[in-house]
Amino acid sequence: MPATQRYSNFSIALHWLIAILIIIAFVLGNIMVDMRISPTKLQYYSYHKWLGVTVLGFVALRLISRLLSKAPPYPANMGKVQTHIANGTHILLYVLMFAVPLSGYFYTLAAGYPVVYLGLFELPVLIGPNPEIKGSLKELHEILNNIMLVLVLLHVAAALKHHFYDKDGLLHRMRPGP
Ligand code: HEM
Repeated sequence: MPATQRYSNFSIALHWLIAILIIIAFVLGNIMVDMRISPTKLQYYSYHKWLGVTVLGFVALRLISRLLSKAPPYPANMGKVQTHIANGTHILLYVLMFAVPLSGYFYTLAAGYPVVYLGLFELPVLIGPNPEIKGSLKELHEILNNIMLVLVLLHVAAALKHHFYDKDGLLHRMRPGP
């Protein structure tokens, strides 16, 4: 397998941390909406919101680090079209990693609930309660989540194809460890 340059340890750590937090927030989101009203359901909603806000913070850090330091080059066997598709998918994933938590945040505010991060402090109330748009924001949160799911599956499938079929060392760029 050809040796490839890697992302910085900071970027690699953020990548996997964000991936794990998004999966937990996604699964929890789907579980909590189907639960019957109970103190546990409300607790899950709080955990979900805290996870989502944490993702937002980490994604902002990741974007800054991505803009400040260049990504390692793609393996030489990747053609122009494949490179454009990979770059396009990555940009879309960044957009969604912001849009998904932000839509949840604005939905919560439009529904009239403050977001109290970790139960410790209230985050900015950027919009007031708004029954007219709250339904659309809820739907938007769900739709954006579904689009992100498809893109993440594509992203994983592409990484696995590079690793097992092309055997071009691409996965090595994001591998944790020395
Ligand atoms: C990575 C970030 C996030 C992911 C992956 C995510 C994912 C999800 C998913 C899959 C659902 C279930 C949608 C459905 O089937 O109806 C959901 C619902 C929900 N999310 Fe998020 N979410 C994120 C961030 C946030 C944030 C930051 C907030 C608010 C601060 C939030 C608030 C909500 C609320 C209130 C619901 C329930 C909507 C309802 O009652 O139907 N989410 N989320």
